Amino acid sequence: MIEKEFHVFGKWFTEYVRSFYSEDMFILRNIKLKERHSLEVCRNASLISDSEGLDTEERYLAMTIALFHDIGRFEQITRYRTFKDSDSENHALLGVKVLRSADVLACLPFTQQDLVFQAIANHNMYMIPETCDDRCLFHSRLVRDADKLDIFRVLADYYAERDSSPNPALDMGLRDTPEYSSRLLEDLFNNRMASTADLRTCNDMRLARLSWVFDLHFKESFRLVRKYGYIDMIASKLPQDGKVENLRAHIEGYIDSVLASGSGIRG
Ligand SMILES: [Fe+2]
Repeated sequence: MIEKEFHVFGKWFTEYVRSFYSEDMFILRNIKLKERHSLEVCRNASLISDSEGLDTEERYLAMTIALFHDIGRFEQITRYRTFKDSDSENHALLGVKVLRSADVLACLPFTQQDLVFQAIANHNMYMIPETCDDRCLFHSRLVRDADKLDIFRVLADYYAERDSSPNPALDMGLRDTPEYSSRLLEDLFNNRMASTADLRTCNDMRLARLSWVFDLHFKESFRLVRKYGYIDMIASKLPQDGKVENLRAHIEGYIDSVLASGSGIRG
């Protein structure tokens, strides 16, 4: 795949997204949020690709997967008024359906089309299926890292405006009370990504987001997390008790150890 094809995908993306622009302010706000998110994930994918020294073909593939990874979100928020898959449908599979039915990737060889569909389907799974081959595993990890990095940015922007302009689609309908789950905290201290099932409060959601650090794979992702101060930003919204203080030190220590290690990819 070369730049010309990627350019065609970019044009299709813009027109497709614009077709969801609405006079309903809730819908418009969330369509624009996901439009920017898709473009930023694409930028992150390009940064990771460069730091990994990918050739042009793989780099444009990574950027195509990133551009389209959330293409199902536009139909999801318009039809169901939520980003919660459990209250609507799996947005990754919905996205694959959208791309297939519009035959957007027709200019690519079937193997590349398949790779894009698989990586998109894998981007929101708790774990990447073991049946994935090496190339699919690589691209699935890349889009998952690029996606997580930008969700950290979305949260940072949102926390800055949340008091004056709350967005129920981002709070996922959770209550913002001081409690948080000790089971989630335990996951983080064991360097495990927390499952997003059974989140009860906004603090649980914040812990779940922090735990994503343990599912990052590329060194560039850790550099970007550190550069933009995402851990501090999310942790500062949790109750400032001793446990949270220890957790913050634990995560920063983990990032230090990855950045000090030799290999570019963890795990
Ligand atoms: Fe997604």
